[in-house]
Formats: sequence, C-alpha cells, structure tokens
Amino acid sequence: MKIIKVTDEQAGGKAGFEIFKEALENGAKTFGLATGSTPLTTYAEITASDLDFSKATSINLDEYVNLSTDHDQSYHYFMNENLFSKKPFAQSFLPDGNASDLAATTKAYHEIIENHPIDLQILGIGQNGHIGFNEPGTSFTANTHVVDLTDSTIEANSRFFASRDDVPAQAISMGIAEILQSKQILVEAFGKNKAQAVKNMIEGPVTEDVPASVLQNHDNVIVIIDEAAASLLA
Ligand code: F6R
Repeated sequence: MKIIKVTDEQAGGKAGFEIFKEALENGAKTFGLATGSTPLTTYAEITASDLDFSKATSINLDEYVNLSTDHDQSYHYFMNENLFSKKPFAQSFLPDGNASDLAATTKAYHEIIENHPIDLQILGIGQNGHIGFNEPGTSFTANTHVVDLTDSTIEANSRFFASRDDVPAQAISMGIAEILQSKQILVEAFGKNKAQAVKNMIEGPVTEDVPASVLQNHDNVIVIIDEAAASLLA
C-alpha cells in the first residue's frame, strides 16, 4: 500500500483528485465510486475541474434497499447532487435497491462489473473496517449481494435520517471479490474516528473481521489519510 499523509480533508480532496486525473490521463475508462462524507472533497475538486468524464463509465459500490431514488439519503440522489449533475459520465450504474427481485438484480450488477472492468475504485472505510457495505465477517470471495446492516452502521448513518428507525436495514453492495478486481484502489479516510480502522487496515492481520484488511493483498492501493486518521499508525 502506498500511504499519502495530508494535513486535512481539503488537502485529501486535492490528493484524491490527482489520482483521478492521472488515471483518466492514462486511459482509465471505468471508475468505481463511493458515497458518504469521505469522497466529497475529491468530488468537489473534480466538479471544479475541467476533467472530462463524458466518455467514461461509473459503477457505484452500493445502495440502500427500499429507499426511493429521489429520497435525499439514497445514493442515487447523493451521486447526482455531488457529481453527476455537474460532471456527467457516459453511463453511470448504481445497484437498484427497489428491484422486486433482489437476487436477479445482484446477479445483473455482477455482470455489469464483469463487462466494465474497474480501472480506479475509490473507497471510504467504516469505523468497523467495512468497505462498501461489506460488514465484518463478509467473505472475501463475495460478489454483489444483499447485506443486513449492522447496528453500528445503522447508528453511524442515523445522523443522516430523521430518526434511527428511518435508516434502511438492508443494502446492496458490491462484493469484496469484485472490489479486489479493480486495477487500482484509492482509499480515503479522514478524522480521528477512522484512526483505529485505518490502523487495522494497514497494520493488522488480514482477516474477514476487518474487511478493509484484505486490501493488503492488492498490489495497487493508494491510501490518503489526514493526520487524525493516521494518528494510531506505528
Ligand atoms: C459508501 C460506502 C461506505 C462508506 C463508509 C464511510 O458508498 O461504501 O463504505 O465509504 O461507510 O462512510 P463516510 O465516508 O460517510 O465516513
């Protein structure tokens, strides 16, 4: 893993932007995207730039189950607000959390990923070490699947909903096996509440108890962390 330490989230956004720019200049065609607060500064740098993604494909990591795509907490809404409306891609895929047949939709999503190999995947990391919505205990061999969210993730995400009860209990997530197929992976983490997860990801044993630790097995991972997120590293 290549570690880039930055002073703060703003600097992290600029560093993340440089990775996207370089990938695009090197011919990357498909970008794996994340939601959440972590990639926001990178997306802001991208939307403020003249980078052209109009011939590129994007594939998002995850989406809630049973949340309307126009709900302001859906990941469809998030991506449109923070990236696609300002920086359109030729085509953008997100899991369909409102599909009547979730098994069919996860299978179809896997085929989309197979047909559009991801050149650069951006990831945030959960406080429990999750990547995408792959919670601790998820098999490293999983492809796109339906996930029951853990209490800690529901709790962490409840800040975005009117109440804890409004947080969806399930999501569709790209699997760890598919994430690992990305040619390059960029992990960003900012803030003290990510410090333990970052330490476990980089220095801990590779274990399904810490999904992000599997990234130690990938040969092209860049980690951008601020001082607070790096504070527990040896
Ligand atoms: C989002 C995603 C999640 C987040 C993680 C961190 O698409 O896949 O794994 O990256 O929960 O969330 P934030 O960035 O809000 O701290």
